[in-house]
Amino acid sequence: MLAKTPPMGWNSWNTFGPNINETVVMEMTDLMVEKGYRDAGYEYVVIDDCWALRERNEKGELVPDPEKFPHGMKYLADYIHSKGMKFGMYSAAGVRTCAGYPGSYGHEYEDAAMFASWGVDYLKYDKCHFAGSADARNAYVTMSMALRATGRDIVFSGCTVGENNPHDWMRSAGAHLYRSTVDIFDSPESFRNNFTQQYDKFSQSGPGCFNDIDMLIVGMRGTGNVARIGGCSDEAYKMHFALWCFWGAPLMLGADLRKLDDFCHELLTNKELIRLNQDPECRPPYIDERQRYHNLNKRLAAIKMLDNNEFALGLFNYSDDAELEVLAYFDDLGIPSGKGIGLELTDIFTGETITKFDFYTPKLPAMTCKIYRAKIVKR
Ligand code: GLA
Repeated sequence: MLAKTPPMGWNSWNTFGPNINETVVMEMTDLMVEKGYRDAGYEYVVIDDCWALRERNEKGELVPDPEKFPHGMKYLADYIHSKGMKFGMYSAAGVRTCAGYPGSYGHEYEDAAMFASWGVDYLKYDKCHFAGSADARNAYVTMSMALRATGRDIVFSGCTVGENNPHDWMRSAGAHLYRSTVDIFDSPESFRNNFTQQYDKFSQSGPGCFNDIDMLIVGMRGTGNVARIGGCSDEAYKMHFALWCFWGAPLMLGADLRKLDDFCHELLTNKELIRLNQDPECRPPYIDERQRYHNLNKRLAAIKMLDNNEFALGLFNYSDDAELEVLAYFDDLGIPSGKGIGLELTDIFTGETITKFDFYTPKLPAMTCKIYRAKIVKR
């Protein structure tokens, strides 16, 4: 089975945009190994848009730009495979990709066969230059079938940039990821918007098909292709990564791995956070009704049920500037109050353990979170 847990890897778009080439992709591949990202679980090295020539050749085939990829894609695939990782590429459901390169509309089976012959293990499939009146679902199921017809295991990452309610049908179309949001940019507003639009739409996200709320901006620090002035603070990057991990979203690194600072490196390889993200049960967090009318755009408490009868409690204050109480009333989380049943909470960042009964409503500074491994205890 493909995508048993949320796919993890690195994608070229956030940092390099159109300026990709073989050297840079090989360099990133080497760093995935040297810096320990591969061993932390990041598996796919994905080339996004702008790898092809502007037109198909006379046989109707997509052609890798020989200036950017002088040895072709099979060469790169072999290199990535030799480093123990998997190779991802990009195409689009329309006649053109989002950056104006040829898309796969009407060429699905030929393109899929070509990708398979190159050794591609993952295909991101975007939606631009696609007529509003055309059937988007059909375009995605066609490529999904075409990939299956190759007989190769290829993760299919369906990206409608949030259009067409992908959570309703992408799983049934055979996709392993469905991009449910607009593009992320390197700012707290951007990752927060993507998250708050989707936090309660993860019910279709689980083994085999995951809600993709876009690639990670952790460590970009205001540089690269999706730059915003200032980028994010340490706290904001921590919040972003914690939300993606807690919600079981795919984890695709987007930063320039040559430039990631120690703080972001530690964060992105945090074993406890990754363990939550990769829990085999892949359950979305449970959010009680009360949370829905308490400044949902600013704070949230949720529990995440895990394998082996375990669970975690996450408390998030993702406002920009307000210290806020984050409200966890245990009655709302399946633990009746007044019965001497409490929670032993172990902070995954500090290891500190506390025990609480009936409620826990700590004041958290702006843009900070607490994530606990939780255990039921009796008084
Ligand atoms: C869209 C996608 C991005 C990226 C670009 C490439 O905007 O949402 O993730 O793939 O296209 O052009």
